[in-house]
This record gives sequence, C-alpha cells and structure tokens, in this order.
Amino acid sequence: MLELIYYKNHIKREVDMCGIVGYVGEKSALDILLEGLTNLEYRGYDSAGIAVNVDGKVELYKAEGKLQNLKDLTSEQREHIIRSKIGIGHIRWATHGAPTTINAHPHSCNCGRVAVVHNGIIENYKELRAKLEKEGCVFRSQTDTETVAHLVAKKYAETKDLTEAVRLATMEIEGAYALAVIHQDVKNTIVATRRNAPLLVGIGEGEFYIASDVPAIIQYTKTAMYLDDNQIVTLTPKTMKLIDINNNELPQKIETLPWEPVALSKMGYKHFMLKEIHEQPDVVRNVLGGKLRTIDENIILNEVTLNKDSLKHLGRIQIVACGTSLHAAMVGKYIIEELCGIAVDVEPSSEYIYRTTVGDEKTLVIGVSQSGETADTITAVRQAKARGSHILIITNRPDSTMAREAGSLVPVNAGIEVSVAATKSYMAQVISFYLLAIYIAEIKQSASKDELQKIKRELILLPQKLEKVLSHKEDVQSCARKFSNSKDFIFIARGINFPTALEGALKLKEISYINATGYTAGELKHGPIAMLDESMPVLAILMKGKVYDKILSNAEEARARNARMIALTNSEDSKLNELFESIIRIPDVDETLSPVLAIVPLQLLAYYIAEFLGKDVDQPRNLAKSVTVE
Ligand code: F6R
Repeated sequence: MLELIYYKNHIKREVDMCGIVGYVGEKSALDILLEGLTNLEYRGYDSAGIAVNVDGKVELYKAEGKLQNLKDLTSEQREHIIRSKIGIGHIRWATHGAPTTINAHPHSCNCGRVAVVHNGIIENYKELRAKLEKEGCVFRSQTDTETVAHLVAKKYAETKDLTEAVRLATMEIEGAYALAVIHQDVKNTIVATRRNAPLLVGIGEGEFYIASDVPAIIQYTKTAMYLDDNQIVTLTPKTMKLIDINNNELPQKIETLPWEPVALSKMGYKHFMLKEIHEQPDVVRNVLGGKLRTIDENIILNEVTLNKDSLKHLGRIQIVACGTSLHAAMVGKYIIEELCGIAVDVEPSSEYIYRTTVGDEKTLVIGVSQSGETADTITAVRQAKARGSHILIITNRPDSTMAREAGSLVPVNAGIEVSVAATKSYMAQVISFYLLAIYIAEIKQSASKDELQKIKRELILLPQKLEKVLSHKEDVQSCARKFSNSKDFIFIARGINFPTALEGALKLKEISYINATGYTAGELKHGPIAMLDESMPVLAILMKGKVYDKILSNAEEARARNARMIALTNSEDSKLNELFESIIRIPDVDETLSPVLAIVPLQLLAYYIAEFLGKDVDQPRNLAKSVTVE
C-alpha cells in the first residue's frame, strides 16, 4: 500500500532576477562591465547601471530601459570613466520599485562612498529601512537594495573594515541575495557574497571578475570559483580571501568552467534565436552521444542513480516544469507511458507547490529546467524531496541550484542558450526524455525489442532530418509573410504533438505578441470553434500515424467555418492542397519521434513573423530568461 505523505508547508524561495558583474585588476573596468552586462541581458533589461572609482571617487552611472541607454550614457564620458580599474554593474528585472533610473542599481548611502549591486529580494527591507531612516539615512529609491547600501555604510563607519561591514550587514538581512560592494575608502577592493542567488568569481592574472552567471566572464577566463550560500569573498587585484558568515577562513574550490566563449557569438546569424534554432541537429548529436551507440545496445544513462530494482517498481512519475520545459515534459509523459507503462503526471511547478500533492519513495519526481534556477520548480522538487521521492533533474545547467537538489542529474548539453525564447534547450530536453523512456523500458522490459530498436533507429537519423528541415525554410518564410498581420493564431494537434502545438503557440506569443493558443484538435468543437472566421489562421500539425485522419477531419471542420488553414505535415497527400492555404512539409518521420521535427518549423515561423513585425526577437518585452521569482 502506498504511504501517503501530504505536503502542506510551502517552502518559500524568491529571488529577484537581474544580473550582477564586477571587475578589479589592471585593465580599465568600463568595457568589461558593459560586455558582462550585455551577456547577462537575458536576466532582465528594465534598467542598468555601473559604479566605478575614478581618481579615488566612487561614481554611479545608471539608465532606465535597455542596456544601450547605459552604453550611450557612459560613452559621453568614456575618456573619464575608463580610468577606473575597478567597478561593479547591474542589469535589472524590476520587482520592488518601478523600472526607473532612480531605482536602477548600483545604490549608495548618504555620503555616496558605498556602491552596492544586488540580485535577490531583501524580505525584511521595510523594517530595516524604517530603522535606518530613524538613524538619519535618507533613501532615494523604492528598492529593497538601498537598505543594504545604508547598512553597509553604517557598519563600515563602526568597523573601518569593508569585509566585516558586509558580514555584519548580511547577518541582519533576511531573504535572498547576491551582492557586490565597493567603498571609496577601501581602494581596489570588491566584497561579494550570496545567499540563495547565484554568484561566481572569475580568476585571471592579477585580476578578478564576479558575475551572476558564466556568460559574463567566459571570454576573459575559464578559471572560476562558485560561491556557496553565506560565503563572503574579498577581492583585490592580487588577492582573494574567502570566509564564512562566522568569519572563518575557507579553502577555495577553484574549477575550470566547461563552456566555450564561442557560445556567446551570433556566428553570423542576425539573432541568437536563429543561431540556436540552427544548432539543433548538433544538440541532438550531443545528447545522444555516448548514450545511444547502436540500435542493438541498451541505452547508457549512468546519470540515473536510482537502482534498477527501484526503477522496475516505480509506482508513478511526476514531472514538474514551467513554460517551454513543461511542454518538453508533456512529450516525456506520452513516451514514458507508451514505452514504460508507468503513470506519469505532468504539472506546472507553480500549481504543484500550492496544493496537496501526494507522493512517496515509490514516486520518481522529475524536474525539468533549462536554467536550473526557476524558483517554482526548485520549490516543487524540494517539496518532493522532503516526501522521500527520488529527484531526477533534467537541466542545461549542471552548475545550477536545481542540479544541487538532484538525486540523479541528467545534463542536456545544449550549450549556453542566450535567446530568451527557448529553442535548442527544448530539443535537448525532449531527446533526453526519449533516452530516459527507452532506458527504463529496457530495464522493465515493458516494450518489445523491435519497437525500441525502431525508435533508436529513428533517433539516430534525426540530426540529418533536422538539417533537411533547416535547409528548406522557404515554406515557413512565405507562411510567415502571409500571416504576420494576424491578430490571433490557433495551433491544433492530437496525441504526442499536442505539446508541439502548445510550444508553437508559446513561441509565437512570446516573441511576436500575437495571441496564439494551442488546442487538442478534438477540443476545437467544444468551444474554440466559435472564434473561427476568415481572419483566423488555424495551423494543424498533421503527422502520419494513429490520429492523422482525426486531425484531418478536425481541420475540415475548421475550414468549413472559413478559417485560414495551414498544415504542418510529413504527408505527401495531394488532397491536402485543396484544404490548406499553406503547407509546410517536413521529412517523413515515425509518429513517436515526430515532435522533434515538427517543432522546428514552428520555432522558425514565430521567428520570421517577429522579424517581419520588427520585434526584439532575442529580448521580448516583459520577459527574462531565468524566472527566479515565484
Ligand atoms: C519560453 C521560455 C520559458 C521557460 C520557463 C522555464 O521560451 O523560455 O517559458 O521555458 O521560464 O524556464 P527553465 O526551463 O529555465 O526552468
């Protein structure tokens, strides 16, 4: 009998998005800070700012809106600012306080000698602010971060030691933070610390960098040290000292980052999104590499540490994820249920964590996340872990917070994804689910050898087929041109391509701002069909297989209501020409694997429509790549 453990206590974890950078060394800091912020723009783009020390004086430069505004501002005084060989910088995704210049980081204190950048949320900032105001601190912004600047200034006045000031300040702060601090009286020194927000130190020759994430520093150094919670690092051009919150000196765990600087270049493509879409054949090769050798050999998934006996006797699987990762999880559900005969529930992490969910040690919980930093998914897997479930994490960031929660860690090896709209990471997640499902099926012997060999054979052929899809983009481009002025868009599919419809609609929504919805084709007649008229495009994902005829008749129903019909298909059936105004064809593929090929034209469709509409493809409005707030 299942032992039911009801989980009611919600584990609160909320981290402001945003990115921070810092530099201290022999070079001019300005360009390093701006370049670092450029590579962290995926974390937010509401405002940006830097603090430097020119000729012994701390100066702040801040601008509302995109980073370009800060670049324009600093270029006016470039000759002056480049004299600073130290600096900290920040890119903001606003949570507390509107995205104005005054609320942009860095923040300072009354005397202007301290500058602080912060990624996170100070939960007790109201109480701290009230106390500091009573003591004479004058606040200029509505942010939680400004309290830290005043607090550090006060502690510095008492101790005359910046590291100690930061240490004492963090003892009074509740919440999450990655902080970097400079002080006018402490030459060439950055003090940085973190709690529940990412921060790493890049180590060069006679110089140090700090950053929220690898892209900000990878072109300068691959040698780095990740900070753990409550550690405080003090950096000067030639020294690095690491202590814990109790002032004990700590050993430094220095590592080589597994990333290449080339990941951050557009390689001739107009946008990162287009480059990342084109990387997908190689992403599939990477994910399969070493795991699927030949169709006769079993899948090798050493990353799964759950023993074979437990895998054989799993009661159920729960998959938690958000957004695009959730859609990959939905494909995972179809394939695991089909091959392994295990019941799989897929749920948005944000729902999973606010209701009574049931699970135990016979439940495998899979968290899927590109960034590994999505707050809702982290909370969901922590809840499941507390119930005794084995946690398997599928992530593109093995260095992330979520990865540290994993019992089994399956890295997807898609490389750094810069565009806010996820493409290649989705591809890598979906392929990882195929591998996982076959792996479990081989252990459980829940599918026939022939069936598994057929899927493996198709998997091996996928990179070439994807290349074919990418080299014949004309249909997609002409479709994009034709439909770019549509106000709404409907995507219909059935079975394993229902998640493809949802993902296609999400891509279109997020980068072109067109109202797009994915429906299971059978649901159309239960309500949505009322919306159809001659202005409504309906894109049917029509893959040969079990549900082909069903979708075709659903498409006919839509055509009868005058909708403008588009087919995405692997069928050569000439009858389709009568029914569909536009047809996007992809190479023939087995239905089970068809989501892998079908998503690519939909990513491209969203891309080209956004391009025609002149939208900011890589940085759509209101979004950030790592959603670290619940
Ligand atoms: C859409 C997109 C988002 C993310 C979601 C989860 O293109 O990127 O929907 O998929 O925010 O993020 P991760 O996968 O990092 O947990």
